[in-house]
Amino acid sequence: MTTQSITAENRLFIGGDFTEASDGATFETINPATGRPITDVSHATPLDVAEAVAKARAAQKQWESEPLSVRAKVLRRTAELIVSHADQLATLESTDGGKPISDCKAQVLGTAEWFDFFADVSAHLRSDVIPSFPDHLNYTLRQPLGVVGTITPWNYPLPLYGIKLPAALAVGNAVVLKPAEQTPLTALALARLMAEAGLPDGVLSVVPGLGETTGAALVDADVDMVSFTGSTEVGRKIAARAGDRLMKVTLELGGKSPSIVFADADLDIAAAGALFTFCVHQGQLCSAGSRLLVEESIREEFVSRLVTMAEDLRVGDPADEATQLGAVMSQAQMDRIEGFVASGIDQGARPLTGASRKVVEGLDNGLFYTPTIFEDVKVDMEIAQNEIFGPVLSVLPFSSDEEAVEKANDVLYGLAAGIWTNDLRRAHRFSRDVDAGIVYVNTMNALAPWSPYSGWKQSGLGVEGGIEQAESFTKLKTVWINLGDQVPTL
Ligand code: NAI
Ligand code: MG
Repeated sequence: MTTQSITAENRLFIGGDFTEASDGATFETINPATGRPITDVSHATPLDVAEAVAKARAAQKQWESEPLSVRAKVLRRTAELIVSHADQLATLESTDGGKPISDCKAQVLGTAEWFDFFADVSAHLRSDVIPSFPDHLNYTLRQPLGVVGTITPWNYPLPLYGIKLPAALAVGNAVVLKPAEQTPLTALALARLMAEAGLPDGVLSVVPGLGETTGAALVDADVDMVSFTGSTEVGRKIAARAGDRLMKVTLELGGKSPSIVFADADLDIAAAGALFTFCVHQGQLCSAGSRLLVEESIREEFVSRLVTMAEDLRVGDPADEATQLGAVMSQAQMDRIEGFVASGIDQGARPLTGASRKVVEGLDNGLFYTPTIFEDVKVDMEIAQNEIFGPVLSVLPFSSDEEAVEKANDVLYGLAAGIWTNDLRRAHRFSRDVDAGIVYVNTMNALAPWSPYSGWKQSGLGVEGGIEQAESFTKLKTVWINLGDQVPTL
């Protein structure tokens, strides 16, 4: 299938049908590697969102009452269809988001794994029988929440549908998905595949549109929970609105994760890992290790090696299999990166490499940025505290374990932390002491459907992944049964 035939799916998907927005409005999605529009996409109005939620509500009870095996079969079949359409989905994802095609292929297969995992996991959810009073039976039930609104960002579109949809659907919820306005196309393609897999009409709707209008309308609609991934700023707004009506939310937000290299580490592995974690997907990753803490005794040598490796990376056309860094998402994202780099220089940090846009031959209007490494960074500088979401690394030295932990924790975020060491006790101590929801030792950014994770501090609320996530899409009920003749008395 060509890109063109895939992008035929550019309308809202509501109640099992592709349809125009009720006011006919559309928005453009562009290819950030060329700067050119790919297609116009229908822009869901608040009315369209309300209709999608009403259809989800109408379909949900029947979906919940299906045997587990029926829901599992739809998810498993979806996984198969994702795999059999892998090349087309990867091309679409790469074109819409600017990321290297080789990354996209791996991510499509990874997405299928989440559907597969959650197909089975709901069968492993357990309720409890609680030892209680004589002649009483006391047990718990886990029941679906109802309708879940899902709002996702542009950095990992398909993987995030994998992270959010199957867990919610497996336990009997219906879902309304608002994909990021920069990358709506694979959400619509996935909706078609899920319909083909046998998902009943209405159980999943997709309502593309802007955040302030369509996204906000979904938060305010008749949904029972919002599952959000994106910026801390928007996460806070969503939580405040949810707080008003005591609606459940999960938030997976930004990060400024430390990657900490001790002199005793295997430095080949550490250098490759330190490079990967700040450059993968052009640095547009919530768990990017964008602060490199290096033990002073090896700092100079380690950093100069990293600079050489960064300069060897192939930044270019995302469609080329050999490309390692593609385009950054948008002009807004480019402005953000350039703004932070300028502030780093203003505040006295020194770029050892990068700090400029890159012109790629034949893609003059593409949004490319060279991997950038800053030295002479102080912990309180903008570049050391804020999520830049670009291939920009801040290097900070340390001389003791205590100083490493202190600097690692001296930030508002708490998503991930990586440590590179061969000292077992140091690795365990650090894992205990660091303020982060995910800790990596001699690796970084691993993710799997069976492993739960959770953002600490300003990085989020709630859990994604694992049986814990399936449980988080349910509500707990406690049942008391009087088995005897006991009469309530005053
Ligand atoms: P964003 O948080 O504005 O967008 C994420 C999603 O939220 C999109 O679907 C958007 O349409 C929606 N949204 C925006 N405003 C909303 C509102 N008021 N109500 C409901 N939904 C709303 O992120 P943006 O602007 O695309 O990126 C800005 C920065 O956010 C990035 O530079 C990065 O630092 C951070 N970010 C973090 C991500 C993560 O994975 N944790 C992902 C994307 C961005
Ligand atoms: Mg796009």
